[in-house]
Amino acid sequence: MTIRTALPGDEAPTVALWQAAGLTRPWNDANADFRLALANETSDVLLAETDGALAGAVMVGFDGHRGWVYYLGVDPAQRRAGIGAALMAAAEQWLKARRCPKIMFMVRHDNIATKAFYAALGYEENAVVTMGRRLDDD
Ligand SMILES: CC(C)(COP(=O)(O)OP(=O)(O)OC[C@H]1O[C@@H](n2cnc3c(N)ncnc32)[C@H](O)[C@@H]1OP(=O)(O)O)[C@@H](O)C(=O)NCCC(=O)NCCS
Repeated sequence: MTIRTALPGDEAPTVALWQAAGLTRPWNDANADFRLALANETSDVLLAETDGALAGAVMVGFDGHRGWVYYLGVDPAQRRAGIGAALMAAAEQWLKARRCPKIMFMVRHDNIATKAFYAALGYEENAVVTMGRRLDDD
């Protein structure tokens, strides 16, 4: 397995993988999210490939204070083979290279299954509630 930074031409297979992993939502435009992450200097999408084919992906970004991870997904046929852990390790390295002191992410309430995954990687729950408002509707 290899991990590399996504390029614009990776958009379609990456979004298809995110869809297969159940990560997309009707109110988020995953294609636009992919393009915006690549267009900004402070974010990237990292891809895991096995035998040259896409097996997993994660979006990572540094806001100048904390590092955030989004859209972590692994091909359902290739799970429990260490790809998710390798992508998180790559995201951690990406952030460490930018001297980011802490990595964070949001987990949807109904996504209990991933808690065991993150716990296995040494992550613990923070006692915070995230609040948000869409800006693209204004
Ligand atoms: C979560 C996800 C990325 C994990 O990817 P993966 O490649 O299967 O994970 P790994 O093989 O690296 O797992 C590392 C460790 O995490 C734990 N783990 C992973 N999946 C688990 C599961 N479903 N149940 C319990 N523990 C799990 C195990 O300890 C595992 O080590 P082991 O296989 O040696 O026991 C993958 O299941 C996925 O794409 N899920 C759907 C999308 C999603 O929910 N993303 C996260 C959004 S917050």
